[in-house]
Amino acid sequence: MIETVEKEIVTLVEEIGYSEITRLFGTLAGGKRLRAKLVLAIAGADATAPRLGAIIELIHAASLLHDDVIDDATLRRGAPSVNATEDSKTAIMLGDALYSKAYSTLVAYDEAVAKSVADAVTALSVGELMDVKMSEHFNSDADAYMDMLYLKTAALIEASAKAAALMVGKDAEAYALYGKNLGISFQIIDDILDIVSDEATLGKPALHDYVEGKCTLPYIYLHEALDDAEKKRLVSYHKKQLSAEDTAWIKAKMKVHHSIERSYALAQELSDKAIAAVGDDMRLVGIIESMMKRSF
Ligand code: FPP
Ligand code: MG
Repeated sequence: MIETVEKEIVTLVEEIGYSEITRLFGTLAGGKRLRAKLVLAIAGADATAPRLGAIIELIHAASLLHDDVIDDATLRRGAPSVNATEDSKTAIMLGDALYSKAYSTLVAYDEAVAKSVADAVTALSVGELMDVKMSEHFNSDADAYMDMLYLKTAALIEASAKAAALMVGKDAEAYALYGKNLGISFQIIDDILDIVSDEATLGKPALHDYVEGKCTLPYIYLHEALDDAEKKRLVSYHKKQLSAEDTAWIKAKMKVHHSIERSYALAQELSDKAIAAVGDDMRLVGIIESMMKRSF
């Protein structure tokens, strides 16, 4: 039950032993708890699964606190981010406390379980740095983008599934494959939503990724399809504040060249691969189907 994970999260945060951290953590929106739900769906039979789910959610929360500082983001999940309401120093230190607590709790787990989660945190740190570096210039390389996505987003989801499988003696590689494909697919859907959703739904301006410098898959596919003059026009908008006219041009060109549909088709293909890895586990099939439905 996800409520058990929520209780574990509160316990771990309180155990840090500083009321200011408890207060700050209380201001964060919890999010979908996708990673903890995965742990429960796979290792629910193990009494220590909710705590592992809580550990992973604390790591995820820490990474988002730092990410908002790195991205200069003022909103997180539709609410002001900690770096906006407090300051960047506070957001960094809160993140440090959360992931350190997560690690000190993780060491009580079996070595293979702990290692898969810890390795994923190294991967997501590498992925974040790649993301920042790739955002400096227009990137038209889909493979480089996918490699970065895997590290930044999918590695922790993959590790959640793998660690949970290891805990209960299930096929760790099959569950890892499920988690990896779910994670990449999830991020592609997120990238699509940044383009197709309105500002009110997103809690941030639409096409924000591109303004931030992130050339997500629909932009890469669009770039591939444009003629030279149009390519130049698209690249000239990179990392710039977009006017309504610029936004309309990008969206219209994406429509003509089916950039969103192509991206969605890849997300669907990866979701199918994920399901094929664990086909008879209906809870996991359900998790992936509801994730895919977020888009349209
Ligand atoms: C969100 O990406 C960012 C991540 C999923 C990972 C961030 C990782 C780090 C900051 C490494 C440090 C790790 C720890 C544990 C402190 P995004 O900016 O594309 O998505 P967004 O729109 O949700 O901000
Ligand atoms: Mg960000």
